Amino acid sequence: MTASDTAPLMIRMEAVDKHFGQLHVLKDVNLQVPKGQVVVVLGPSGSGKSTLCRAINRLEPIDSGVIEIDGKPLPAEGKELARLRAEVGMVFQSFNLFAHKTIAENVLLAPVKVRKQPVAEARKTAMELLERVGIANQAQKYPAQLSGGQQQRAAIARALAMRPKVMLFDEPTSALDPEMVQEVLDVMTTLASEGMTMLVVTHEMGFARKAANRVIFMSDGEIVEDSAPDEFFTAPKSGRAKDFLGKILTH
Ligand SMILES: Nc1ncnc2c1ncn2[C@@H]1O[C@H](COP(=O)(O)OP(=O)(O)OP(=O)(O)O)[C@@H](O)[C@H]1O
Ligand SMILES: [Mg+2]
Repeated sequence: MTASDTAPLMIRMEAVDKHFGQLHVLKDVNLQVPKGQVVVVLGPSGSGKSTLCRAINRLEPIDSGVIEIDGKPLPAEGKELARLRAEVGMVFQSFNLFAHKTIAENVLLAPVKVRKQPVAEARKTAMELLERVGIANQAQKYPAQLSGGQQQRAAIARALAMRPKVMLFDEPTSALDPEMVQEVLDVMTTLASEGMTMLVVTHEMGFARKAANRVIFMSDGEIVEDSAPDEFFTAPKSGRAKDFLGKILTH
């Protein structure tokens, strides 16, 4: 038995189903992520990876099933939901920073508005986080004045400012120029090594091999494989995963 078999669960999904109209996008999804685990989600376009992430912090409602974060079911709405959202940090492909606010303001806004932190305290935390992601010297600039990699690191700092229990990343490096991918992956790798529970949709196979404890492969709304990275990359079980790896590793 490994440590993660006994660690308490941070994410639990049981028999989760979701449709968009006729389209069945999550099919009986069962997923348990222990605290501190890093899970990479792979799968072809349209397989449901983003929907899975969005369901976990309730940006998308589900039709049926159970989703729990840290042992508590997802609240439907209201204050409880806002609290839950604060516990689940999310970083998207597009950086989603507020264009008319400085980087520091972007990071301190939610702690002040949602957590009612005093501004001075929030500013101090924001600066520490910007230091941690390596862009403290950009704090007074506006998003458009930063490179894509710097903006994405700011987005990570902004999510961390809420002290989330778990971080979801949906293709955080897909919109970046190649030379900026690594600086973002480095921040994520450090976060993983510090014990953050992470669910990461990415096509960065190096990150999956190095930082993930586990790889989940989705196809047509189903989790088709769930294995250790080594096992997945060297001996995928399903034809669908073999196909996918064939395409992604040769392109
Ligand atoms: N708001 C929506 N309304 C209707 N259909 C949607 C909506 N969002 C996603 N879909 C459909 O649901 C399916 C799953 O989409 P999803 O975005 O989760 O896939 P994905 O695995 O993240 O794909 P990609 O790799 O392209 O990001 C796709 O067929 C998509 O077209
Ligand atoms: Mg997606």
